[in-house]
Amino acid sequence: MNLSPQLAKLLNEQINNEMASSYAYLAMAAWLEETPYGGFAQWMFAQSREETTHALKFYQYLVNRDARVELQPVAKPKQDFKSPLDVFEHSLKQEQKVTAQINRIYEVAEKVKDHTSKNLLLWFLNEQIEEEKQVKDMRDRLKLAGSDPASLLTLDREAASRKSAGGGDAAASA
Ligand SMILES: [Fe+2]
Ligand SMILES: [Fe+2]
Repeated sequence: MNLSPQLAKLLNEQINNEMASSYAYLAMAAWLEETPYGGFAQWMFAQSREETTHALKFYQYLVNRDARVELQPVAKPKQDFKSPLDVFEHSLKQEQKVTAQINRIYEVAEKVKDHTSKNLLLWFLNEQIEEEKQVKDMRDRLKLAGSDPASLLTLDREAASRKSAGGGDAAASA
């Protein structure tokens, strides 16, 4: 069964959205590298890589379905932030935006009865639940830490260990 043109267009756009996401996280990592928070920087760097693997997963799917891949320019990301909390607030918004994008593509896949695409998109929707939760948990704890340096550094250390322990999830199951 050929991919519907509408679905092919949206999946191509999603390659770009995931790359834009990867770029947004790389900019967050770079900003954090200029602060004492090397752990948060590592978290965002790993997150950036993960988004690239998502883009590649959509790419590979289009190739496998014999559809045309059309790459678009990636927008310049936001590069200035106020604090680690501000970074995580932006990260959460970024993830919520991606969840909405994937839900929208899923609806189209359902409309054209493309069950294989629905299956792919369900994998992504489940992934989004996990990503949103991880970011939200850290955001909440950063709020709690406020401007207390000791608490912030504890969270920073945790951020580093979380990513080195479980950061490759998406890549591993992709
Ligand atoms: Fe993603
Ligand atoms: Fe994500």
